[in-house]
Amino acid sequence: MEVIKIGVLTLSDKGSIGAREDTSGPLIQEMLSSIGANTTISRIIPDQQNLIQDTLVDWADNKNIDLIVTTGGTGVSPTDVTPEATRKIIEKEVPGISEAMRMASMQKTPNAMLSRGISGIRGTCLIINLPGSLKAARENLEIILPALSHAVYKIKGGTKDCGSE
Ligand code: MTE
Repeated sequence: MEVIKIGVLTLSDKGSIGAREDTSGPLIQEMLSSIGANTTISRIIPDQQNLIQDTLVDWADNKNIDLIVTTGGTGVSPTDVTPEATRKIIEKEVPGISEAMRMASMQKTPNAMLSRGISGIRGTCLIINLPGSLKAARENLEIILPALSHAVYKIKGGTKDCGSE
């Protein structure tokens, strides 16, 4: 199995200045290692739309990353701009990934409807927005984890029949 190269981008104003420990980023890296993913890059940056866009573009275009998972900044606070930044730089949306997370998360908390996260593709890189808290990141990622290796395989042009596994 080919190693999936991942980037984990944490969006947090407080985290970016060291005023809050980032627990969600390391959790995401650990959970993704179970599907054979290797963290190539991880970073914590503030909720600034241009900075988020520039980072996503750099990782997708120059760093050869297969899967970028962002955490945080998906909600309805004035500072939350991760979905806007992501939408600006993706070429195709993959709505089912985010729909699945919101749908299953509604069984956990009605606040799940407040996450505006999106998922999409730039080049051969899949980008997925997760909410920020440790609990929300874990609950959302575990829903989509079983489909991620197949998604990366198909995005990179894999031609194996989908029903053959
Ligand atoms: N989804 C799950 N599964 N579990 C949660 O606890 N928290 C919600 C939501 N999604 C939550 C969840 C809350 S409280 C918010 S405000 C939104 O995610 C957005 O979170 P973010 O602004 O940290 O990205």
